[in-house]
Amino acid sequence: MTDALRNAAIDILKINDRGQYTVPTKGLYPFQWNWDSCLTALGQRHFDEARAWTEIETLFAHQWPCGMVPHIIFHQMDDGYFPGPTVWGTNRPVPTSGITQPAVAGFALKRLFDRAQDPAHAMTRLRALLPKVAAWHRWFYATRDPQGEGLVAILHPWEAGRDNSVDWDAPFDQVPTDGITPYTRRDTLHADPSHRPTKDQYDRYLWLVEHFRALEWDTSKLHDASPFQVVDPGFNAILIRACSDLADLAGFLGEEQIAAENRHFAQRGLSAMESLWSPRHGQYLCKDRITGKLIDSASVGGILAAFCDIPRERAASIAATIRNHETRYSVASHPPHDPRFDAKRYWRGPVWLVVNYMIADGLARAGQQDAAARISADSLELIHKGGFAEYYDPITGEALGGGQFTWTAAMVLEFLARETA
Ligand code: DGY
Repeated sequence: MTDALRNAAIDILKINDRGQYTVPTKGLYPFQWNWDSCLTALGQRHFDEARAWTEIETLFAHQWPCGMVPHIIFHQMDDGYFPGPTVWGTNRPVPTSGITQPAVAGFALKRLFDRAQDPAHAMTRLRALLPKVAAWHRWFYATRDPQGEGLVAILHPWEAGRDNSVDWDAPFDQVPTDGITPYTRRDTLHADPSHRPTKDQYDRYLWLVEHFRALEWDTSKLHDASPFQVVDPGFNAILIRACSDLADLAGFLGEEQIAAENRHFAQRGLSAMESLWSPRHGQYLCKDRITGKLIDSASVGGILAAFCDIPRERAASIAATIRNHETRYSVASHPPHDPRFDAKRYWRGPVWLVVNYMIADGLARAGQQDAAARISADSLELIHKGGFAEYYDPITGEALGGGQFTWTAAMVLEFLARETA
């Protein structure tokens, strides 16, 4: 059974492999996505370590001179996706989007390196990537934390990867929709529209893209010019964990400056995370940097915070909060007792395996083994029930969104390895 599942996961990674990078799924997402790729590498390492390093190297080959690593690399044209390169208008040698995504790379490098079957080979690949990832982290804190608070802001929901989370409903009130160029969505041709973001949300996504394009994608200007600036605990936790992992790797390679810099980012970030804790919700919350207030939305972003080294009592509260969700499958991207919960609509309720993986990893490190084991078991059960989908209904387990999904398959290989460790 385990072998069959493992082989099925490997097949999906191979079907979606385009040589130097992997598409998230055929049709719906035909290019290279940033955090998809880094998490995909974790699956690839189980059958082809060299290929796993290539996945991340390809992504970093398209890093901008300022240090930003874009969220999409448009390697080959494909009309099946909107918004494509001309809408972004970033004017790069190989077209890319102009925003970024969760900084999983530092964590992925550490996992690839620590578990490498061929350490000498891993060391060579790591040495070349290390300064690039360090430049990305530096860029984050310079441009997205201009006041030096220790936490970075996202300027577009697509940066968090949790496109239509309830977290953005209130901040989106400050984003207009007037004046945007008329457009035709493509995502709803590939997936059920009732499982995807609404038109109103798409209008705002596009308004932000056009606003940033008018600023010629000068990433030093976008933060202050954006009406949408949200400090997301999940996004920050990923960056903090990546900084701490990169610091360890740099220390090992004797790159003392990179080690010290990233250790500082991680420590400062961890202290600042406390400002996002909500005792009432038993988890962290997003903060709207425009209003200066926490956002009353107990989404999975505040649970994903467990991915970095939060205090152990906070991790224990988060484990209890997940139990209180009372869904058949954990972890719902939004709690079912909130009236805004929508079991099938993308990030407003469904379970995502990548998020489960990072939460389980963090909780296990914080001593919450039972909670981590349950998340891992639920994740594999979802696969047995519905196959390798993009996301799942947390109540019925129904498979939703795109099928034959790359990062879901990659996470299955990781969960299986965890079960048999
Ligand atoms: C999409 O197009 O749905 C993506 O999430 C944006 O990256």
